[in-house]
Amino acid sequence: MSRKDREGLHLPADLKEMLKGYSKRSIWHSYVADVWKCIEPEGSSVYYLKRHKIKSCHDSVKECEVINWLQGKLSVPSVKCFARDGKYYYLLLTEKPGIPAHRLIRRYSPEEMIRILVPAMREMHSLPFSGCPFDEGLTAKLKRIRHNIEHNFIRKDIYNPKSRRDALKDLDYLQSHTPGQEDLVFTHGDFCLPNFLLEDGKVTAYLDLGEAGPCDRYMDISTFAITLCYNYKRYDNFLHYCRLIFAEYGIADPDWSKLHYYHLINEML
Ligand SMILES: Nc1ncnc2c1ncn2[C@@H]1O[C@H](COP(=O)(O)OP(=O)(O)OP(=O)(O)O)[C@@H](O)[C@H]1O
Ligand SMILES: [Mg+2]
Repeated sequence: MSRKDREGLHLPADLKEMLKGYSKRSIWHSYVADVWKCIEPEGSSVYYLKRHKIKSCHDSVKECEVINWLQGKLSVPSVKCFARDGKYYYLLLTEKPGIPAHRLIRRYSPEEMIRILVPAMREMHSLPFSGCPFDEGLTAKLKRIRHNIEHNFIRKDIYNPKSRRDALKDLDYLQSHTPGQEDLVFTHGDFCLPNFLLEDGKVTAYLDLGEAGPCDRYMDISTFAITLCYNYKRYDNFLHYCRLIFAEYGIADPDWSKLHYYHLINEML
């Protein structure tokens, strides 16, 4: 969310009542969300409040449904309250223990981070998902990319916001070069470091689950390699990190063209 778009916190009545007396510390701004840590005066109860604009590329209703669906299956927060007003969705979550992985890049090398996070990726990918109501497959993702372009929610760090032409050209490429059969597993959908909490070298929580659901496993593998390049500022290491992730994951003969395809999907979402 841009600085211009950010506003103070004016809560809907039910949330205001629930958080009466809590201190609210703003801890995070992304280009779509704001997050506050809400602490009771005695410090005995802590929640995280996520606020998204209703008119944005983020689907808060789905994020709330995914979190509920994952209860008892993986270590995720619980939804304490979900509310909206005329402009925003508000998702109030219980606190999970641990430190976000991007704040541990001095403690762990990229290789160590891969050894910590790939088992968590595999655990998520091994969840049974038959009957799961979410669709994150390629057709759904390509549809979402088109919707984002048409509503001007394209990535402003990659595409010139004044011209949709470049983005539409890339979308045409993606549509005409889809890899063969999708190898569907339950994916996170945004497998980047800030979305995992760690304690003692292990993942303690999966966060930010708005794009989770059945998709090809290469989606998470490609996002993870991108996040390592970005967080460790080693922008030329994408293929190197992919090789290490594949080895740790146990994929002996990677499909590199599929990996590049999902890299581009990532850039457009
Ligand atoms: N339930 C929670 N427990 C502990 N920390 C949390 C929790 N929810 C969020 N956080 C903290 O807030 C940060 C941002 O949260 P999150 O990743 O959900 O927001 P976001 O990336 O802006 O979301 P989105 O991609 O939906 O816009 C996390 O990296 C983590 O530090
Ligand atoms: Mg996040």
